[in-house]
Amino acid sequence: MSEPTKLPVVAAGQPAPSPSVDLSPDELEREIARLRKERNAVILAHYYQESEIQDLADFVGDSLQLSQAAAKTDADVIVFCGVHFMAETAKILNPHKAVVVPDLDAGCSLADGCPAPVFQRWLEQFPGHTVVSYINCSAEVKALSDVICTSSNAVKIVKALGDQKIVFAPDRHLGAFVAKEANRPDLVMWQGACIVHETFSERRLIELMVRHPEAEVIAHPECHEGILRHAKHVASTSGLITYAKRCEAKELIVATESGILHKMQREVPDKLLIPAPPEDESCSCNECPFMRRNTLEKLYLCLRDLAPQVDVPEAVRVRALAPIQRMLELSV
Ligand code: 13P
Ligand code: SF4
Repeated sequence: MSEPTKLPVVAAGQPAPSPSVDLSPDELEREIARLRKERNAVILAHYYQESEIQDLADFVGDSLQLSQAAAKTDADVIVFCGVHFMAETAKILNPHKAVVVPDLDAGCSLADGCPAPVFQRWLEQFPGHTVVSYINCSAEVKALSDVICTSSNAVKIVKALGDQKIVFAPDRHLGAFVAKEANRPDLVMWQGACIVHETFSERRLIELMVRHPEAEVIAHPECHEGILRHAKHVASTSGLITYAKRCEAKELIVATESGILHKMQREVPDKLLIPAPPEDESCSCNECPFMRRNTLEKLYLCLRDLAPQVDVPEAVRVRALAPIQRMLELSV
C-alpha cells in the first residue's frame, strides 16, 4: 500500500527570511549584472519566482524548459532560481559546472514527501513495473527511476511506454490526470501532493465562476480533481501561458502558483487574470513557500560568494542521469 505523504517543515505562506544587504534595489540589480558577467554565469528562473527575479533572469521557463536550458548552457556557473530538485537536475546534467542557488532550503512538498529509502522499499511490491517519476523528486528517487517526466510531457511519456506496467510517483494528482489522458487506469501511484495546488477550493472556485460567467478556468495538473473538472485547459506553467495567449476568453481564472501571473499578464495585457482561491481567504496559500524563499538579496549573495552550491554524489548522479536523458530524448 502507498506511504502517507510527509508534510514539509515550512508552512504555506510563511515569509522568506532574507539577509540584509547594504545596497539599494538599483545597486543590487547592477551588482547582479556585473557579477553575472564576471563569473560567466547564467541565471535560470522558474515562473513561480518573484517578479524581480524573473525580470533579471537570462531565461524563465517551466521545469522541462529549464532542464533543457541547463543541458545546453555553455556558462561556467548556473544560478538556479527555483527549488532544490530543479537545481539538482541542472547539476546532474552539468557535473563540472558550479550550480548555485539563492537558498538551499527551497525544497518542495512533493520531493520531501517521497524519501528515497521508503520509496525503494515501496517499489519492491511492484516488480516488472517501469518507474516514471515526476521531476519534482530528489536525485536519489530519480536514481531509482526508469524515466523522468514533467507536467508538460507526462502524458506523452506514459503513452510512449505502450502497455508496460507503470509506477508513477510522487504526485497523485498529476498521476490521476495522466491516467485519464493516457487511458491508463492501472497506473500504480505514490500518494504525494503539492501543498500549494492542494489548497485550491472547489467551493470558492464555483463562487468565482458565478461572479465571472465569461471566465475560462485554466489549471496546472498538480491541482486536485475538484479543480481540474472545471478547467477548460490543463497544462504546465508554460503551457498555461501559451494557452492564455491563444484562447479567445477575455477573463481567465488561473489555478496555479500566483507567480505565473507576472509573465502571463505581460503576454496578455488586455485580459483579466484572476487567481484561483484557496479555501482559507486570509492566507496567501497560492504562493509556494519554497519558491518564495529566494530573494534578490540572496541571488546577489550566491553570485558574489558562489555559495550555496548544489552537489550530488557521483554514484547517485550517474544513475539519475539516465532517466533524465531518456526524458530529454522523448521530449524533442
Ligand atoms: P512546471 O513544470 O509546470 O513549471 O511545474 C513545476 C512545479 O513545481 C509546479 O508546482
Ligand atoms: Fe513543489 Fe508545489 Fe512548490 Fe511546485 S508549487 S515547487 S510542486 S511545493
